[in-house]
Amino acid sequence: MNILVINGPNLNLLGLREPAIYGRTTYTELLAMIRAWAADLDLTVDFFQSNHEGALVDAIQSAYGRYDGILINPAAYTHTSIAIPDALKAVGLPAVEVHLSDVMHREPFRRLSYTAPACEITYYGLGPEGYKKGLEYLKKRQR
Ligand code: DQA
Repeated sequence: MNILVINGPNLNLLGLREPAIYGRTTYTELLAMIRAWAADLDLTVDFFQSNHEGALVDAIQSAYGRYDGILINPAAYTHTSIAIPDALKAVGLPAVEVHLSDVMHREPFRRLSYTAPACEITYYGLGPEGYKKGLEYLKKRQR
C-alpha cells in the first residue's frame, strides 16, 4: 500500500517555526518518524511539501493511479482553499487530514476546515503522532 504524505505551506520550517505551538521536531525529523511508522505498518510512503496551493493540487492530481491513499496537512490552506478539497474529491483516493496543533482551540479562523469534508477523518492536536494515527487509519481501512 502506497501513501502520499503531503505537507502544505511553512511546514518545511518545523523546528524553527513557533516551537511553542508546533514543537521542536524539524521537518526532516518528522519525515524520518513517518517513514519509520510506515515501515512498521508495512506501508510505503512518499513525501511532497510545497508552499504553493497549485503545486499541492498538482501533487494530489498526480497521486491518482499511483497511490492508495493521501495523508495531508494542508496547513494554512486548510482554512482558505477550495481547490485542494476539489482535487481530493476529484481523484477520490481515501484521504486523511492531520494538524500538529489543536486547531479547535486557537484563533477562531482555524476552526473552519474546507479540506476536512474531502477527507475521511481529521487528527489534530497530537503533534507528529497525528501522522501516525493517519497512517494507522489508512492501513486499517484497507483491510
Ligand atoms: C497546521 C494548523 C494550521 O492552522 C496552520 O496554518 C499551519 C499548521 C497544523 O499542523 O497545526 O500551518 O496545519
